[in-house]
Amino acid sequence: MAVCKGARILHINFAMPSDLDTLNQRFYLSRSVADWYATKAFIFPEEQAFLALHGVEAVDGKNVLDIGIGAGRTTRFLQPRAARYIGVDYSPNMIAAAASHHPEATLHVRDARDLSAYKDGEFDTVMFSFNGIDCLSYEGRLAAMKEIQRVLKPGGWFIFSSHNRDQKTPGPFAVCNLSFSKHPLRMLAHLLRYLKGIVNRWKTKSLAYAGQGHEMRHDSSNIFAAPICYITKAAQRDQLAVLGLEMISIFDRAGKATSVAEFDQTSSWILYVCRKGGVTERA
Ligand SMILES: C[S@@+](CC[C@H](N)C(=O)[O-])C[C@H]1O[C@@H](n2cnc3c(N)ncnc32)[C@H](O)[C@@H]1O
Repeated sequence: MAVCKGARILHINFAMPSDLDTLNQRFYLSRSVADWYATKAFIFPEEQAFLALHGVEAVDGKNVLDIGIGAGRTTRFLQPRAARYIGVDYSPNMIAAAASHHPEATLHVRDARDLSAYKDGEFDTVMFSFNGIDCLSYEGRLAAMKEIQRVLKPGGWFIFSSHNRDQKTPGPFAVCNLSFSKHPLRMLAHLLRYLKGIVNRWKTKSLAYAGQGHEMRHDSSNIFAAPICYITKAAQRDQLAVLGLEMISIFDRAGKATSVAEFDQTSSWILYVCRKGGVTERA
């Protein structure tokens, strides 16, 4: 989600506006986006912080479902520790890219909103990393979370990140969206991408809205192709609670353990660590 902050992909969407879910999915169906993700081998500080605090309990020797794996960035660090690992993504190009790097892994094309291939309580842990869940409409997000709650064992772990509504983000006209190059063709590509962001935002602006504690907001991660979800920590806690998922720990982009009470305008997204039914309340 942010989806891909700083992504330098020339993904041009000439189609007319459609619904938010379709536009976001179309972005990830693209081969060039999958190729961009295939170059990513990092682990975020907040993911490291999660593994340091909860990895032994939540990942080691566990039955793990990894949703929205993209080209398999998280497969690299979860699969070797899990007893059973399944990675899924709704983009066949993403799954193909992940399979080429992890031929030994069990990887499937699946949508988080329909996990009917899995039984109730089948997994100890479900991960949906790098704000993948923010690509869904609000209704889609709730449907995915319901499915995740269903496939988790009682006490099972759900780890995901989501954009921070309290952080301001630049609009499509902001100069920071325009990269510069001395190479004329590269500069032309940067300029086209910048202009595409402006056009995309204009075409899909009716899909953006501000709700209670959350917002569907355009940003540069998908070249303003469709708005994605930004949510406050408090609204996220409440949304999870309704679904029977309790927030256990939360981490900012620096990997610092934080809390719902701590107002944060700097972290672009927050990593949430939750448990089905909950065990202890620290958030
Ligand atoms: C920002 S990318 C992150 C990819 C990967 N997790 C990483 O960290 O590099 C979000 C991923 O979530 C996937 N995704 C988004 N919504 C999904 C859904 N409803 N079901 C399955 N995958 C989804 C996208 O296809 C994309 O690969």
